[in-house]
Amino acid sequence: MSDIRQILDMNAFDASKGTTGKVQRRLDNLGAASVLFYRQPIEMISAQGAWMQAADGTRYLDFYNNVPSVGHSHPEVVRPISEQIARLNTNTRYLVGVVDEYLEALKARLPEPLSNVMLTCSGSEANDLALRVAFAATGARGVIVTQTAYHGNTALVTDVSPSAMKRGAPPDWVETVPAPGSAAYGDDIAGGFAQAVTEAMARLTARGHGVAALLVDSIFSSDGVFADPPGFLRAAAKAVQAAGGLLIADEVQPGFGRTGGGFWGFERHGVAPDIVTMGKPMGNGFPMAGMAARPAHLQSFCAETGYFNTFGGNPVAAAAGLAVLRVIEAEGLQHNAARIGAQLMQGLQTIAKGSERVGQLRGAGLFLGVDLIRDGAPDPAFTTQVIDAMRASGVLIGAAGRYGATLKLRPPLCLDAAEAAQFLDAFERAVSG
Ligand SMILES: Cc1ncc(COP(=O)(O)O)c(C=O)c1O
Repeated sequence: MSDIRQILDMNAFDASKGTTGKVQRRLDNLGAASVLFYRQPIEMISAQGAWMQAADGTRYLDFYNNVPSVGHSHPEVVRPISEQIARLNTNTRYLVGVVDEYLEALKARLPEPLSNVMLTCSGSEANDLALRVAFAATGARGVIVTQTAYHGNTALVTDVSPSAMKRGAPPDWVETVPAPGSAAYGDDIAGGFAQAVTEAMARLTARGHGVAALLVDSIFSSDGVFADPPGFLRAAAKAVQAAGGLLIADEVQPGFGRTGGGFWGFERHGVAPDIVTMGKPMGNGFPMAGMAARPAHLQSFCAETGYFNTFGGNPVAAAAGLAVLRVIEAEGLQHNAARIGAQLMQGLQTIAKGSERVGQLRGAGLFLGVDLIRDGAPDPAFTTQVIDAMRASGVLIGAAGRYGATLKLRPPLCLDAAEAAQFLDAFERAVSG
């Protein structure tokens, strides 16, 4: 079996071999924390729609980036951001109309009980706050996450992000469960996952932590993308909520229409999260994120701790967020995610039938995972080879999963049928080459 891979190591430039020029300049500036994609890093200069333009003139079809979700440099997002920053940008301690206008538009997309939203600057901050709210609201500390979860980079959130750990294991108050796929649970994914979560709750309770939360990325992206069967989260969520724990849906990856069937990934499973966190696509590149919770839960936290976020919820972020919601609606992007996602899935199925190296296909809308295998086992080396071959064909794509052998497809939601066909063509050549 392959080695377990750390999320940031996947498709990363290997600095240990030494380098020169612009890459060395970057390493000198960022030091050990520097992460660059590809063995030969790419210098980018501009991007539009689903395309990125490199300094050497190469155009790349972007199948990696879940941030510029309505399309790179979308003019209907760029314009309101520019206008707002030219007019006023300040913190949430003043009343500024666009902030409340945005929060109301966002809340119209959320389950009604989650009527308080704190805006932050990153998904990590949103998850950090969500955990602290869960601790305060439940009086418990125990948290359950999936085995290859990634929820962000603060000290607290790193503790619940096993895929970021290079050494050691999560702390005593964290329990991990295998991702909800057939490899771990066979044919009964819902039942198996609920059973694993129930056993994890028992271990947390036995160690005196109790159950504060089940924290899941509802498309399980770093675990390798798990979407089916719809509803598989329900039994696990019910067990946690019955025990007094909260369900935190991390929508940083699947939120904002990407999964096609719903605006949020959790809708696919018919669950009612107690807290929803969001980020990445929320501002189409403008850094913003948020946490939505029930007022009573937020009150429990605020009774213990003051919370203020200098940049969170600033008027420019609100203008960006509002523009993103408008563009998703006006351009029918959620529907497009479902339609083009189905085209991609169909094409992948055809390719998989003719290739021994393509394993399971999973996902929803424009969030798909493709296992690459050799003799039925995950093949991370082949995955890297395919990623490089795709790059040579002008397509950017990344990997995920416990062994780094799942291709993660996450193009902008504005992807059209011709671009999807172009991807499929490049993929077919890469896996047969
Ligand atoms: C599921 C999930 N949650 C949270 C985060 C953290 O978001 P950010 O990088 O904005 O802090 C990420 C980032 O990749 C993520 O994938």
